[in-house]
Amino acid sequence: MRAVDIIIKKRDGGELTSEEITFFVQGYTSESIPDYQAAAWAMAVVIRGMSMRETTALTLAMAHSGQILDLSDIARRVVDKHSTGGVGDKTTLVVGPLVAACGLPVGKMSGRGLGFSGGTIDKLESIPGLRVDLTLAEFKSQLRRVGLVVAGQTSDLAPADGKLYALRDITGTVENIPLIASSIMSKKIAGGADAIVLDVKAGSGAFMKTLEEALALANTMIDIGRDAGRDVAAVISSMEQPLGYAIGNALEVKEAILSLQGQAPPDFLEHCLTIAGYMLLLGGKVVNLADARRLLEQVLSQGKAFEKFREFIAAQHGNLEVIDHPDKLPQARFVKTLTAPQGGYIAGVHALDLGWAAVRLGAGRNKKDDRINHAVGFVIHAKVGDKVVEDQPLVTIHADDEFHLEEAGETCRKAIRLSLTPVSPLPLILQTLHG
Ligand code: URA
Repeated sequence: MRAVDIIIKKRDGGELTSEEITFFVQGYTSESIPDYQAAAWAMAVVIRGMSMRETTALTLAMAHSGQILDLSDIARRVVDKHSTGGVGDKTTLVVGPLVAACGLPVGKMSGRGLGFSGGTIDKLESIPGLRVDLTLAEFKSQLRRVGLVVAGQTSDLAPADGKLYALRDITGTVENIPLIASSIMSKKIAGGADAIVLDVKAGSGAFMKTLEEALALANTMIDIGRDAGRDVAAVISSMEQPLGYAIGNALEVKEAILSLQGQAPPDFLEHCLTIAGYMLLLGGKVVNLADARRLLEQVLSQGKAFEKFREFIAAQHGNLEVIDHPDKLPQARFVKTLTAPQGGYIAGVHALDLGWAAVRLGAGRNKKDDRINHAVGFVIHAKVGDKVVEDQPLVTIHADDEFHLEEAGETCRKAIRLSLTPVSPLPLILQTLHG
């Protein structure tokens, strides 16, 4: 078999066999197939699509490109969650400690930023000293001891997805249901979870722009999970505006810390409680969502979730001084707040434009090996539907040079729209699916 023939077949709209997909995935993992061929193939998939059979074959080939974790000696049931990617999405940083503090172990493999959406691993790396490159033995031992571990991809766990994910980030090949579904589900299958809660975003700041597309993605992942014997639920939420207030790595870590200390933005809190509730339900910790919410609110208000977060950060060698004093997280050189030119109502906070603007500030990558800037980003101060008065702060820009500060200012002025007449708040949770 030759990689080029597989690329041509997909380019011309053919359906690849499982053998061809496995050959391609194995070749890319072992580096006998180079990045440029994988990029051409991914673009052909974006343009031509994949059947459900091809998507399942791709998922299994990527899951089996490394080891499949067996966590049955750690817990009777291990639950994982994964987001399809959004702007300001720091959910894992809060949901992980919340669920672990309720006594359900969370062992999670997370990703870096992808296109305009941030990634949990990049966010965590804004904490000095923190290690995300854990060996499988370290991953399991921390899960047993602490009940919470978040690691980046290794050469042991779904390495094919690790490579393809980094390539897709900078080759315009992210927005595609088969590629997203197989990327997420290969990691979840390899990570050993029995049950998976999918945090599927829909809207301008998501890869799926409409509810219909988000439902199609969710159903594809649920089908893959069912075939692999996993219990899967999907929560579809709106990403028409950023989640919470902060966008950018260290800024989001700070917001997560404050959220665990009881100062969460209302939309972000609601989102976290919903995702965490389904995790407790699928994990068999509770029998209904009302019980889940009671338990979650208890561990949050008693400070147990924040304590679990500290324990997890310490276990991964992160500097706790920064967690206890978040102002010691990386800071940008220039901080500027834009205010409302007149009174009115917030009519739109364009998540996609702010997501790309954060990448341009340095919070994401333009090339595979780019170093990101953890300090930069935005803190918005109002959500759609909020009433604002003249000169009220709308957004604070954190930038490391004046050129990018100015450029981001221009973007923000267009991305945050005001109306003189009242505007309804946006819905948050759009639909949930649990077969
Ligand atoms: N998250 C992933 O892990 N992969 C994607 O393709 C998108 C979001």
